[in-house]
Amino acid sequence: MSAPMTTPWPYPRWIAHRGAGKLAPENTLAAFRLGAQHGYRMFECDAKLSADGVPFLLHDATLERTTNGQGTAGDLPLGALAQLDAGRWHSRAYAGEAVPTLEALARFCIANGCFLNIEIKPTPGHEERTGRVVGETAARLWQGQAVPPLFSSFKPEALAGAQATAAHIPRALLIDALWDGCLDEASRLGCVAIVCNHALWDAALVAQVNALGMRTLSYTVNDEWAAQRLIALGTDGIITDRVDLFAPA
Ligand code: G3P
Ligand code: MG
Repeated sequence: MSAPMTTPWPYPRWIAHRGAGKLAPENTLAAFRLGAQHGYRMFECDAKLSADGVPFLLHDATLERTTNGQGTAGDLPLGALAQLDAGRWHSRAYAGEAVPTLEALARFCIANGCFLNIEIKPTPGHEERTGRVVGETAARLWQGQAVPPLFSSFKPEALAGAQATAAHIPRALLIDALWDGCLDEASRLGCVAIVCNHALWDAALVAQVNALGMRTLSYTVNDEWAAQRLIALGTDGIITDRVDLFAPA
């Protein structure tokens, strides 16, 4: 039996993590602007749902680390999230930056011809619904665009939700440590890529994933030696914080 065809890949190799890594407050519009100023044309973001079901950008389940709010972010409606300061924790220059909706970032990316990797990062217990709503929201926002966003998630249930509402938007399984049956699960979910902790990739794993017809991406790659190793292995995408170190070709 011949191996499946590897999916066509319209995305750039270099992807700016949370907008601009640590140079600006993660997952704010200011961060994506700064990443773009460094030449990046693809970004990774973390998306979850507000209490009233609107996808917005935040990495943690709770508000304390990156905003002036408290408690579980997904317990607040969008109107309350919109009042928070998501920049002051980082530095004074960014005080007053808002928590963006996924829609706001979609508009920025589409207006600037940029690509987006939407990591579906559900509040625990809301995996499937988050995937469904992010799926239908992204399908609406990118309707008519030549290149859709790339969904990714550590949570198979979230990818299944996105598959149910936006089957045409490509999906990738995020893997921090290989677990039994993870590649079978990615195939079952119709994933086009595996996004791994970069240390997991070796020639055998790259070959195994490519043989399943999937692309190979890595996070979070902040050292020159690590990037060189991944390029030599023939992998397809590198998510980095170091937008100041790596200049995308
Ligand atoms: O999507 C790649 C990477 O962002 C996954 O881990 O915790 O930084 O969201 P984390
Ligand atoms: Mg992420």
